[in-house]
Amino acid sequence: MDYNPSLETRRLILRKISEADKMDLFELLTNSQIDKKMVWNHLDDMNEITEYLNEIIGSYHNNQPSCFGIELKESGKLIGIIKLFNYDDEFKCVEVHYMLLPSHHRQGIMTETLLKVIAFIFDETDINRIEAFCLKKNRAAGKVLDKAGMHLEGVLREKIFINDEFIDLKLYSILKSDIQYG
Ligand SMILES: CC(C)(COP(=O)(O)OP(=O)(O)OC[C@H]1O[C@@H](n2cnc3c(N)ncnc32)[C@H](O)[C@@H]1OP(=O)(O)O)[C@@H](O)C(=O)NCCC(=O)NCCS
Repeated sequence: MDYNPSLETRRLILRKISEADKMDLFELLTNSQIDKKMVWNHLDDMNEITEYLNEIIGSYHNNQPSCFGIELKESGKLIGIIKLFNYDDEFKCVEVHYMLLPSHHRQGIMTETLLKVIAFIFDETDINRIEAFCLKKNRAAGKVLDKAGMHLEGVLREKIFINDEFIDLKLYSILKSDIQYG
C-alpha cells in the first residue's frame, strides 16, 4: 500500500513535493495572509523551508501518510499543499490540513483536492478516520470541510492561544463507513 501516490483531478495533479518545489513552497509557507487563519507556525526563511521539506521527504521514504503538493495542470505551478499528519497506526486515524496560495482561492480548488484525497484514503488505504481542526472563525476552512462531506463533531472552546488570544477550534471528521453507507 502506497500512502503517497500521484492522484489526478480535472484541474490538478496531487503529488509528492520535492527539492524542485522549494521556491513555490517558500511563497506558500511564508505567506502571512495564510498562516493567521491556521493552527500553524509561520515559516520565515529558506532554512526552515528546507527543514520542512526534508521532514516530508523522510516520511515519503518511510511510506507514512504525508503531504500532497497541489499542482495546477495548466501552469505546472505548485499552488498549495494538503498534509496528512499525526497518523495513528493503531487506531487507523489521520489528521488533515491544507493551504492554498491566495491568488487561487475561491475557485473550488481545495474542495476538488480534499474530495480526491478522501476518496483515495478510503478506497486505497486501511485508514478508517480522517479528522481536521480549524479555527472556528475560519469560515473558508470550515466550508471546505462541509463541502467534502466531513462532519462537525464539536467546538473545542478556547483550545489554543495564538496571536495573543484564546481561540475556539472546530473538530471535523469523516469515517470510511460514512462513504460506504452514505
Ligand atoms: C481554506 C482554503 C484552503 C479554502 O480553499 P479554496 O480553494 O479557496 O476553497 P473552495 O474554493 O473549494 O471553497 C469552498 C467553499 O468555501 C467558500 N469560501 C472560500 N473562501 C471563503 C471565504 N474567505 N469566506 C467564506 N467562504 C469562503 C467557497 O465559497 C465555497 O463555498 P460555495 O461553493 O458554497 O461557494 C483557503 O482559503 C486557504 O488556503 N486559506 C488559508 C489556509 C487555511 O485556512 N487552511 C485551513 C486550515 S485547516
